[in-house]
Amino acid sequence: MPVPRNVAERAKALREEIERHNHAYYVLDAPTVPDAEYDRLFRELQEIEAAHPELRTADSPTQRVGGRPLPEFAPVRHAVPMLSIRTETDTGPEGARNFDARVRRALGLGEGAPAVEYAAELKFDGLAVSLRYEDGVLVRAATRGDGETGEDVTQNVRTIHCVPLRLRGESPALLEVRGEVYMSRPDFERYNARQREQGRPTLVNPRNGAAGSVRQLDPKVAAERPLSFYAYGVGECGGWGVPGRHSALLDALEAFGVPVCEHRTVARGAEALIAFHARILALRDALPFDIDGVVYKVNALDLQKELGFVSREPRWAVAHKYPAEEETTEVLGIEVQVGRTGKLTPVAHLKPVFVGGVTVTNATLHNEDEVRRKDVRVGDTVIVRRAGDVIPEVVAVVRERRPREVEQAKPWSLAEAVGNECPACRSAIARADGEADWRCTAGLYCLAQRKQAVLHFASRRALDIEGLGEKLVDQLVERKGVESVADLYDPARINAATLADLERMGEKSAQNIVAAIERSKSATLARLIYALGIRNVGEATAKDLARHFGSMTDLMAADVEALQRVPDVGPVVAESIAGFFGEAHNQQVIRRLLQNIRLHRVEEGGPVAVLQGLTFVLTGTLPRLTREEAGALIEAAGGRVSGSVSKKTDYVVAGAEAGTKLDKARALGVRVIDEDGLRRLLGQ
Ligand code: IVH
Repeated sequence: MPVPRNVAERAKALREEIERHNHAYYVLDAPTVPDAEYDRLFRELQEIEAAHPELRTADSPTQRVGGRPLPEFAPVRHAVPMLSIRTETDTGPEGARNFDARVRRALGLGEGAPAVEYAAELKFDGLAVSLRYEDGVLVRAATRGDGETGEDVTQNVRTIHCVPLRLRGESPALLEVRGEVYMSRPDFERYNARQREQGRPTLVNPRNGAAGSVRQLDPKVAAERPLSFYAYGVGECGGWGVPGRHSALLDALEAFGVPVCEHRTVARGAEALIAFHARILALRDALPFDIDGVVYKVNALDLQKELGFVSREPRWAVAHKYPAEEETTEVLGIEVQVGRTGKLTPVAHLKPVFVGGVTVTNATLHNEDEVRRKDVRVGDTVIVRRAGDVIPEVVAVVRERRPREVEQAKPWSLAEAVGNECPACRSAIARADGEADWRCTAGLYCLAQRKQAVLHFASRRALDIEGLGEKLVDQLVERKGVESVADLYDPARINAATLADLERMGEKSAQNIVAAIERSKSATLARLIYALGIRNVGEATAKDLARHFGSMTDLMAADVEALQRVPDVGPVVAESIAGFFGEAHNQQVIRRLLQNIRLHRVEEGGPVAVLQGLTFVLTGTLPRLTREEAGALIEAAGGRVSGSVSKKTDYVVAGAEAGTKLDKARALGVRVIDEDGLRRLLGQ
C-alpha cells in the first residue's frame, strides 16, 4: 500500500525539525525546545516509521539509537590515507620555532621573506574517524586503523548526536570529513559517577572512553556512552570546489553543520603560533574536554602539496604538546575523609608529582569498591590523572611495578582501615544495601560534616564568603561553637573581636571576613539553594529549582510529586530534597538564614535577567535572527523557550510564514510580538 503523501511529508518535516533541535542542542549548545517537546516529536516519527518502514531513511534521527550487535567490524579502505602528525615534544616556545624554521627551509624562504600563514587548532585527545557523506547523507564512518585500512563503525558513530546525519545547505556529491571522536569531561564524570553508584566498572579516562565506545561491537552499549565529535580536515572529496586554505575548509565544514571547535585561528609566523600555544594553555583547564596539545598546519593547500610528506608524516603539520595530565607516582598511604553528607572517601596520599600543571599530593579513590576493583595498595605505583579543575584521581595501578611485599599484603578494606567508626567523630558507620558509599551516621553532630557543610556554604559558587577557608572553618566549628551555617550570621559568635583571637588571624583579616559575611547577605535564590548542600542538588538543579519555585517558602512546601515537575528532577533527587526540608533542624537553619539574607533575582555581574520567569515560543522566520540565536538571547536573559503554545506561554515571537503556533496563540489570547518587540523586551 503506498504511503499517503501527507504522512511522508510529515515524516520529512519531523526529521528536519528534530535534526534542527539536535544541531541547536549538541552543536550550538543553545537548546530550542524543552526535552518533553523533543521526545514527543521523536516518538511521533518513530510511530510513523513503525507503520511505514519504507520511510525510515539513513538520515532519520531514529537511526541514532543503535542497531544489532556485530560479529566483527568490516574493513574500510581509505582512498586518501589517514596519516598521523609529527609531535614536537618541546612544550616550550622552541617547539613552534623549530617547526616554522623547518617549513621555511623546505619552501626555500630566506630571512627577508614574509611570514608563513598557519592554521592553528586544538589537538583533541580521542579517536580519529572519517565520516563519508554522499549527496549530503552520512553513509559510512570508519576508524583510522593503520591509516590505509580502518574499521566500519557507522552504527556507533550514528549514535553521536552532534554528528549530522545529513549536511546542511548545498552539499558536495562526496565529502569525507575527518576528525576526532571524544568524550567531554562533564560527560565522562557523569558517566563514571553513575557507574560508581551502581557498582559498575568506570572508564579510565575520556580518551579510553571514546576509543572503547566507538570500537564497541554492540551499538546499544555505544549509544549509552556520551560521545562528541570535532572535525579537523577532509579526506576524499568530489563535486566540490575545495577551498584553497585550511581555515576556509573548516569554515565550510562548520557551515555544513559539522561541529568544528571555535578555538582556532590563523597565525602568521612562529611568534603568533607561540602566542596561540600560550593562550590555549591558559584556557586548558576551563575547556570541557581534554587536549594534549595544539596543532599547526600550513594554511595554503597548494603549499601543503608542495611540502608533501616525510615517512608518512606531513611536513606541513605538527602537534605542539602540553605537559601530561596523567603521570605515575607512589602511594604513601590511604586515608579516609568525611564529606559534607557524611560520605567516607578513601584518599591516596602520594609522593608529590607534577601533573596537569600542578603538584599533586592527594588523589581521590572515590569509594571502597573502586579501591578493590583497581586493587590499590600502599606501596603501589599508580597512574594519577588531573585534568581541568576536577580533583586528581588514581586511575590505575601499574602492576609490574608492585613490590613483592605489597603483593603479599591484604587488599585494602575501608571498615578495617577506620576500625568500623567515623574517623572524625567515632560514631558508627554504615553502608546501605545497593550503595557504594560508607557513611558516618552522626549527621551534623559529626564535626567533619559540620565543617564541610560550612565550607561548602562559603565556597565560591555558593555564597562566596571570601577568606572562609579550611583552617578558619576548623577553628570556628571547634572553638566558636558554629554548629550550622546560620551561626555564621550570629554577631554574638562571629564578629571582628571574636575572630581576631583565632590562629593566623590579625585584626585586618578579621575585619575582611566580617565584611565578606556581610556581602554574602545579598544572594540569589539559586545560590542559596545550592549552598545548603542538599544531597544530589548541584548548581544546575539549584538553578532549576529557583526558577521553578521562585521562593524558598514554595520550594520548602513542595512534596515529592511537585518537585518532580521541575525539569531534570527525578524520584531520587526529589526524595533527597523533600527529605532535607522535612528535617526540623534544617527548617530552623533556613528560617534563621532568611532573617539575614536578602534574596535578589539578578545574578551579580552576569547578564540582567530581564526575562526571568517568562516563557517564549518562536515561530516563523525572523528578519535578522535565526531561531537558535533568538532562543539563545532569550535564555541568556533568563527566559525559557518552549516548542509549543499553551496558556502558560507569555509571548509568541512570530516571523514570516508563521503557522499554526500563531493561530493557537491568537486563539488563546497569548501576546504576539515580532523580532523588534523581542529586542525591545531585551532592552536592545
Ligand atoms: S590532523 C595529515 N588535526 O592526532 C594530518 N589531527 O597524529 C592528519 N588529532 O590521529 C591529522 N587533533 O586523531 C589533526 N586538530 C587536529 C587533531 C588531530 C587530534 C589526532 C588525530 C591523529 C593524530 C595525529
